[in-house]
Amino acid sequence: MEWNKNRTFAPLLLIQPVMDTIQIKDKQFSISIKEEDILKEVKRVADEINRDLKDKNPLFLSVLNGSFMFTADLMKHIAIPCEVSFVKLASYQGVSSTGTIKEVIGINEDIAGRTIVIVEDIVDTGLTMQRLIETLGTRHPKEILIASLLVKPEKLKVKLDINYVAMEIPNDFIVGYGLDYDGYGRNYPDIYTVVEE
Ligand code: IMP
Repeated sequence: MEWNKNRTFAPLLLIQPVMDTIQIKDKQFSISIKEEDILKEVKRVADEINRDLKDKNPLFLSVLNGSFMFTADLMKHIAIPCEVSFVKLASYQGVSSTGTIKEVIGINEDIAGRTIVIVEDIVDTGLTMQRLIETLGTRHPKEILIASLLVKPEKLKVKLDINYVAMEIPNDFIVGYGLDYDGYGRNYPDIYTVVEE
């Protein structure tokens, strides 16, 4: 093979640069949870689910967009018979005193009599989760369980039984590992917290 000086080679040892701070639009974020720590907790949650639901043939319902990375990493460690599907919450202006309400789209499976595990990125006020549980409840599942990557306990406004939680975090805005700021930042493998000026 002839030497081509324009050709690029994969480095022998890939050392991933960890960026301590990132800028997204008008905001700066600094690293707060490293990928390896996230993955450890995700694996722990998967182990708990494997133990608890082994005879229940669960249907995992992943809530897009934010939970795509969590879902992928979680499912790699789920070792029991199960199905995975994806739903989305679409905002629309409804005739409601609260203004914007959310519609659940993409439930194509018959969930009657099934054990459902909602896979969510983050529970903040809990209103999104409450809405989802209400909607799913009308289709008569056997039970609805929640697996959330993150919970901000100080911000919870509604009573929710969150069965599986990878990590609890303070009341700060975060991005990365699927979570976004104005559509950006979902691609980072680590989690970053906003730097308040
Ligand atoms: P809730 O209805 O207040 O619980 O909000 C849940 C949704 O808000 C999540 O599914 C996220 O999409 C979004 N969210 C809440 N907190 C954050 C955050 O810190 N960063 C990015 N998105 C967030």
